[in-house]
Amino acid sequence: MAEIDKEKLKAEIRRLAQERDAVILAHYYVDGDVQDVADFVGDSYALAKTARGDPRKTVVFCGVTFMGESACVLNPDKTVLIPETSAVCPMALMVDAEKIRAMREKYDDLAVVCYINSTAEFKSLSDVCVTSSNALKVVRALKNKNIFFIPDGNLGRFIAEQVPEKNFILNDGFCHVHTSITARDIETAFREHPDSKIIAHPECMKEVCDMADFIGSTKELIEFTESDGAGSFIVCTESGVLHEMRKRSPGKQFFSVGARQVCPNMKKITLEKVRDCLAGMAPRARVSEELRDSSSRPLERMLELASR
Ligand code: 13P
Ligand code: SF4
Repeated sequence: MAEIDKEKLKAEIRRLAQERDAVILAHYYVDGDVQDVADFVGDSYALAKTARGDPRKTVVFCGVTFMGESACVLNPDKTVLIPETSAVCPMALMVDAEKIRAMREKYDDLAVVCYINSTAEFKSLSDVCVTSSNALKVVRALKNKNIFFIPDGNLGRFIAEQVPEKNFILNDGFCHVHTSITARDIETAFREHPDSKIIAHPECMKEVCDMADFIGSTKELIEFTESDGAGSFIVCTESGVLHEMRKRSPGKQFFSVGARQVCPNMKKITLEKVRDCLAGMAPRARVSEELRDSSSRPLERMLELASR
């Protein structure tokens, strides 16, 4: 799209947002133009809190559908618009309800800890939700010794390594974008950019995390690149974060570890779809009354434990 048309579209979105009393939220993984038109850009945790605290009646959630769904559950009085209903995170479905029931039978003090990258249905079967930036704090605050961590096996392993006093049962869910990164990819990138620090999201595999100088949520990775003395970074997560990193540290260099670090679902959110959902006030995130009640409990508990 020509630059001039893009700017016109952004102006139209801003005008519609004002007319509809809407706040536009965007995850760091969506396209840079969509990030630029948003009121707030953040990681999953920051966006969940912002959706809650903002006074506007409408929330436009530019991210994958579980994010809009969580905002809908936590804000029953607001209208939550999701620009693309097919932008589903595959990991959100990688849970077996039967396995949760079996684990509860096996361990009587079990806490089912559910990464926010999950459907409302799986949240409703859990005791508490977490995001990548608050998982350690929330898990440490739980009294339970036995933790069944769903759906992401890699985030679960990363947290388990830091809390050896608890018994973690890991699930086999994964993010295909992060697990496509291999130790070999890092070796190749490091040969090309030997002065770089390696930073990784905890959804990466162990072999990748073991090579990283720093591991953190998208927000934590961005903040690390701002505060760290290094001038160059090899980034092991979805390439959308490079947009904010470059904005905050224009003098530094950022390299995506490979060409595959693109989440196809996050990238379904386009300026046109943001404009159209505001114009038509649809599609909306919808969760049944029953599911809203049962899935709000673990989300509220996360917000409470993470804010202590
Ligand atoms: P954050 O918790 O860092 O926002 O990550 C969300 C996500 O989808 C990672 O793949
Ligand atoms: Fe899901 Fe991975 Fe995309 Fe995050 S990057 S939304 S975990 S598929």
